[in-house]
Amino acid sequence: MTALDGIRILDFTHVQSGPTCTQLLAWFGADVIKVERPGVGDATRSQLRDIPDVDSLYFTMLNHNKRSIELNGKNETGKAVLERLVKSCDVLVENFAPGALDRMGFTWEHIHELNPRMIVASIKGFGPGPYEDCKVYENIAQCAGGSASTTGMFGDLPMVTGSQIGDSGTGLLLAYGIVTALFQREQTGLGQKVSASMQDGVLNLCRVKLRDQQRLQHGPLEEYSQFGEGIPFGSAVPRAGNDSGGGQPGRILKCKGWESDPDSYTYFITQAAAWKNVCDVIGKPEWKDDPDYATPNARLPRLQEIFATIEQWTMTKTKFEVMDICNALDIPIGPILSMEELAEEQSLRDTGTIVEVDHPTRGKYLSVGQPVKLSASPVEVKRSPLLGEHTQEILAEVLEYSPDEIADIRASGAVGEAKT
Ligand code: COA
Repeated sequence: MTALDGIRILDFTHVQSGPTCTQLLAWFGADVIKVERPGVGDATRSQLRDIPDVDSLYFTMLNHNKRSIELNGKNETGKAVLERLVKSCDVLVENFAPGALDRMGFTWEHIHELNPRMIVASIKGFGPGPYEDCKVYENIAQCAGGSASTTGMFGDLPMVTGSQIGDSGTGLLLAYGIVTALFQREQTGLGQKVSASMQDGVLNLCRVKLRDQQRLQHGPLEEYSQFGEGIPFGSAVPRAGNDSGGGQPGRILKCKGWESDPDSYTYFITQAAAWKNVCDVIGKPEWKDDPDYATPNARLPRLQEIFATIEQWTMTKTKFEVMDICNALDIPIGPILSMEELAEEQSLRDTGTIVEVDHPTRGKYLSVGQPVKLSASPVEVKRSPLLGEHTQEILAEVLEYSPDEIADIRASGAVGEAKT
């Protein structure tokens, strides 16, 4: 038994944001039917390929536990098949460019008429407003959502992050909206529209910077390095390098081996509650009672000197030694882990956060698994479907077309060639 047993999703998503959402739902047991253009499929199948003629890691890592039907939504017979799918699914998820679904003839009104219980969930780049018609990819969302202007080193270019907060982040939010709408449907018996924009999603994740924007009206941001360096603030929140965005000052500090290892660093937080332990461990016990260092407020103008002193100590230890020593003293710190280290981390394999999957044409590969764990809904990550792998099965078993009807549908070109 899984949490979303019995929920069927008509998955009209592509690239990253939408597929993230439907994959999360599939992992909790929803039957996800991915609709792909005959012979073409999701564009990511062939993007950034590492092995010729094999579905890319980009695609396989975003489309686990789904079934694939090749279906041309612009062909008349294809539209009729699609209507039948709408009637037999609970949720339609899409992240086409604005207006594409309407152009295909599947407006909210039409879908609602076909199946009043259906939830229609969409991701777009922007919500209603001046940019609502724009196509958007990840980095555009990071730039338009306030992340890029607040990421990077002071005085340097705006910077995008490696975390796909616009795509995967918004996919996650949409999944939350869909499950909430399914819950409301229990009361009303009706579907509704669920919309998430990537700009909104990124901005939501950047709330601490909107907080700082308003704090700036009342004085400089004293926990920013810029303050310690005596550089005046402008009218907008500046890029703050690796300064902590929380109320406890933190920085990235070098560890033993940093000269040759680009990831030999630790994040170090001078949490007020652990300050005395910090003083002891770095060999500055006198700071514990010195009025210039004893309180968080007294330390604010001295953070540059304080972190430089802590770094003198962290540079004598590896990042893992720093972790072991500080963790035992309740000092919140964390090593900078490379992708290589994460891929090899056994505890992440044990919890299913990283999984090894076998694929018929690719062989074994690593993927991220479900990051949210439900104690009564186990997740088994299954490989992504080949293009059109389940077309026949969906036509016959889900939509209950007869063999003659299936032959006619195939003859119309609506679903591509039969797979052997
Ligand atoms: N049958 C028939 N037509 C299909 C189809 C199918 N099964 N699947 C897709 N199509 C058509 C669409 O209807 C659309 O046709 P139209 O433009 O004639 O109306 C066309 O394929 C292309 O869709 P579109 O979404 O415009 O793709 P794109 O590759 O040009 O743009 C994005 C890609 C991601 C920029 C765009 O989809 C977008 O902005 N999406 C919303 C934001 C988003 O999710 N971005 C992040 C993606 S990770």
